[in-house]
Amino acid sequence: MKLIHVVGARPNFMKVAPIIEAFDEYDRQPGRCVPVEQLLVHTGQHYDRAMSELFFEELGMPKPDINLNVGSGPHGQQTGRIMEAFEPVLLREQPDLVLVVGDVNSTLACALDAKKLNIPVAHVEAGLRSGDRSMPEEINRLATDAVADLLFTTDAIADACLHREGVDPSRIFRVGNVMIDSLLKHRDKALQRPTLEELGLVHEASRQAYALVTLHRPGNVDDPQVLRGIVEALMEIARDMHVVFPLHPRSRARFAELKVLDALEAAGIRLLEPMGYLDFVNLTANARLVLTDSGGIQEETTILGVPCLTLRPNTERPVTVNQGTNRLIGNDKQAILGAYKDLLEGSESKTGIPSLWDGRSARRIVDALVDWYAGQHTAELK
Ligand code: UD1
Repeated sequence: MKLIHVVGARPNFMKVAPIIEAFDEYDRQPGRCVPVEQLLVHTGQHYDRAMSELFFEELGMPKPDINLNVGSGPHGQQTGRIMEAFEPVLLREQPDLVLVVGDVNSTLACALDAKKLNIPVAHVEAGLRSGDRSMPEEINRLATDAVADLLFTTDAIADACLHREGVDPSRIFRVGNVMIDSLLKHRDKALQRPTLEELGLVHEASRQAYALVTLHRPGNVDDPQVLRGIVEALMEIARDMHVVFPLHPRSRARFAELKVLDALEAAGIRLLEPMGYLDFVNLTANARLVLTDSGGIQEETTILGVPCLTLRPNTERPVTVNQGTNRLIGNDKQAILGAYKDLLEGSESKTGIPSLWDGRSARRIVDALVDWYAGQHTAELK
């Protein structure tokens, strides 16, 4: 079985790493019935060392076999460039399957390319729906699931979304969460890093007394009014506790344009460069709370038992609210401060772990794909 894995942006790397590893393990088994050949394609959607290469090193991923080097651009242009660059790879390599993860532009572009050449597509993290079609990721999720042949889901809510959209249940495989495979595998190593010491966050009384912030959604950082409210809320929180804020490149650029970098620093907020995976896991695990608009961090905080305030009106990951530590609070200043106070005064938040988020999701994907391939090639494999 010849597979192409696609990665493009930062949140893809920790999802694909365990799948490649699980296929390697399978392929090394003496009695395995399907020989596996894996190719890793990086679209180059993210290209800075801190947004890409560092993750390959820390996650122990093989270097990409092919880099399409598409770089940044408006959505249509970026998606189009990826499609243009990936198509010849498919024609040359003729894989049996293209495996895409998540909801970034690379996910959709490569799924469309493959399907237009009649190459089967597997989508990992299928069925996540926020219902918010103003977010580019929701369009990527809907369109990718509409063409994918095999849909790997993280939980029962995602299955139900796919059922509602008329997806044949025989194509849906609930396998759990591959990003959590990476988190559980690397958690101990991450906790051994001197991240807090290096940031000067360890003092007897202040250990854990910091809020970790990440923001990069256009809905939060592009509108000056909205951003001003968020910045004011963060400045108030910074009066109580340390606020640590690794900045995504698009946020840094917007903050510089809107001239809020100085105000944040003057309030004592620690603005950092994008962090590597291990330092970020360490910082998350030790935080008193996390304020974020990311998707994956809602899931990681649920596993780490750290309260998460999500600065969005909706989430495609409702299980983190129903069972985990996540709360949806929107991006209004008073709402952020109200939720923050509730959290400090309130009792402990929920710490449920969704079923199958157990570190074995990639193996389930391998089992399902080996069965799928074997089912189609029974004669050759005898
Ligand atoms: C993308 C994903 C988003 C994900 C995020 C995680 C889509 C639609 N969005 O958003 O779902 O949460 O990645 O990081 O695919 N830039 C750099 N260096 C880089 C990459 C980007 O400086 O290595 C800057 C560029 O100015 C670029 C901007 O960041 O224009 C945005 O990058 P892009 O990949 O287009 O979208 P993200 O906001 O990163």
